[in-house]
Amino acid sequence: MLADTSEHKIEIVDRKIVGKYEHLVSPANGSVLQQANPQGATLAFGCDRHDHGCGLILGYVNPVSKKGGITSIYVARHARRNGIGSTLLRRFTDEAQLRGCNSLHAFYLGARPSTPILKHLFETQGWDETRTRTIYSISQADGRRLVRAPWMRRPVLPAGFAIEPWSTVSEDELALLQTEHLRSPLYDGVWPVAGSSYDHDTTVVLRHHGQLIGWFITVRVSPNLLRYERLFVRPEYRKFGLGTLLIIESVHRHQPYMRSSEFAGWMTNDDNAAMLAFIERGLASYITRKVAHHDLVKHLGPPQLADDEHRIQAC
Ligand SMILES: CC(C)(COP(=O)(O)OP(=O)(O)OC[C@H]1O[C@@H](n2cnc3c(N)ncnc32)[C@H](O)[C@@H]1OP(=O)(O)O)[C@@H](O)C(=O)NCCC(=O)NCCS
Repeated sequence: MLADTSEHKIEIVDRKIVGKYEHLVSPANGSVLQQANPQGATLAFGCDRHDHGCGLILGYVNPVSKKGGITSIYVARHARRNGIGSTLLRRFTDEAQLRGCNSLHAFYLGARPSTPILKHLFETQGWDETRTRTIYSISQADGRRLVRAPWMRRPVLPAGFAIEPWSTVSEDELALLQTEHLRSPLYDGVWPVAGSSYDHDTTVVLRHHGQLIGWFITVRVSPNLLRYERLFVRPEYRKFGLGTLLIIESVHRHQPYMRSSEFAGWMTNDDNAAMLAFIERGLASYITRKVAHHDLVKHLGPPQLADDEHRIQAC
């Protein structure tokens, strides 16, 4: 609970107050924040000071799968080191637990000024690191070289196969995927993110006689950064090079949108031998830099009484 003397107020974000917090999320998460709803799947808590947002945590809770996650946590520079980040994280966790979540997922990136602070913040509140992925960045100049690489030539698809934009995926197909996803972990790590922040120009799906059998999801992290991050082909269709076809198609669709400052990033699990071999073979000479992406989990027990030790001091 906030001290009576604190000028800060933690509040759950809804449509009425969302405007106060828009500046605290990346463009890719802007549309996700718009869906914040105290009773809905998109959950956000903000920290208000004198009617201005100075901190925000944004995430999701899924009462069916009993999983939730944190998409973004950010405290305005001038407001840091007052316990706001810790309090937002704890409030989100408490609420997810009350809503019946068994676990929460989050991540932080390596090699940034905030990296050790986020690591410390999550560790202090009992989060465990589950795996590390790597984001391989490609500059706009190298992206243009990549499009001209011999293996990037658009091949003729085998009969019965088609690559189409994500917009062709129907509500029924999504519902079917969701049902399958709950039954087996087939789509863990490759499921399209809640709130659909993927890029509509470059996210593509693979069909075989009309049936959805794969996808390559890209996310626009900021106006200058597109992230290629979820490549999936159903197990029975693997080892035929179909994943590479999805990559080729997506990169070609990206080309007209590359601006002078644009970068692309490829995100791959550090234990994904097939993808690492692909990167080594096809991408290594186009990569400008590598950034670690640390995935975290917090296992939640049954709901507890609210912790009243939240420490927020005046900025
Ligand atoms: C990480 C962040 C949310 C922390 O917010 P905050 O309100 O400053 O956090 P708190 O005041 O609650 O501090 C949390 C802990 O980190 C420590 N900490 C915070 N800033 C620190 C700094 N600059 N140096 C060392 N430790 C620091 C605090 O001492 C505290 O530790 P304790 O619990 O052991 O006392 C904030 O720095 C931030 O928004 N950074 C940018 C994050 C970002 O890039 N987000 C987007 C990706 S999700």
